[in-house]
Amino acid sequence: MRMILLGPPGAGKGTLAGLLKDKLGLLHISTGDILREEMKKGTPLGKDMKAYVDRGELVPDSIITKIIEGRISEIKPGQGYMLDGFPRTETQAKNLDKILAKLKQPIDFALCMESSLPVVLERLTGRRVCRGCGALYHMTNKPPKAAGKCDACGGEIYQRADDNEKTIRNRMDVYTKNTQPIIDYYKKQKKLMKVNGDQETDFLFQELTLVLNENKRAHKDKVGR
Ligand code: AP5
Repeated sequence: MRMILLGPPGAGKGTLAGLLKDKLGLLHISTGDILREEMKKGTPLGKDMKAYVDRGELVPDSIITKIIEGRISEIKPGQGYMLDGFPRTETQAKNLDKILAKLKQPIDFALCMESSLPVVLERLTGRRVCRGCGALYHMTNKPPKAAGKCDACGGEIYQRADDNEKTIRNRMDVYTKNTQPIIDYYKKQKKLMKVNGDQETDFLFQELTLVLNENKRAHKDKVGR
């Protein structure tokens, strides 16, 4: 299965990807994580991209497309994956279609997690991340057992530079202007599925399981097996 996770910042794309990775054995490819890793290592790419990421602006389409093309080319045939945070513009969506057409491996569907501004603000201002393994925490809903330390690997917990209210509001505006239009792009391709990202993770996961099963049934009906 090859799927795209769409949705505003804080809709829970990374959280859900963590669950689906284990449940469905899918690779999780997050362009945000890739960029943060480059920034952490201080590579030339990371240094060039830092200003965009810290302000909540999109990095140029050509650069992010090249990164994704490289990652996709490394995936073994038959291995399913989730793209989290890509595509984010119509140009990126068209570029992705071209890359996958060459491989004869189109995307199966795009899952859009809808979420509202008050929920997003509450989640992202409270979010903390492990520097070591990337595990996600929330200061109120899911705090680490020992303050400042990851439950899983003992790594340091930190707050992302773009998780402050001013930048979160900008990221939401950027999402509305650039990424929302591609929801229609996948709707026209009949590949769009929507779930309510404001729900608790457990309910969301249950809803998603139903949606995925319905999708599997519809696919079987279409191909007649
Ligand atoms: P990126 O890292 O992709 O950030 P984002 O899209 O803003 O998404 P987030 O990671 O903030 O949110 P999420 O939906 O994954 O939420 P999460 O699961 O963590 O991108 C960062 C930047 O990189 C961009 O601004 C841009 O500069 C650049 N970039 C990346 N891709 C690009 C591209 N394709 N083109 C151009 N530029 C690009 O959850 C958030 C919090 O809420 C957590 O604390 C979690 O515990 C909690 N939570 C999650 N779900 C629930 C729930 N259901 N109930 C309660 N709490 C929940």
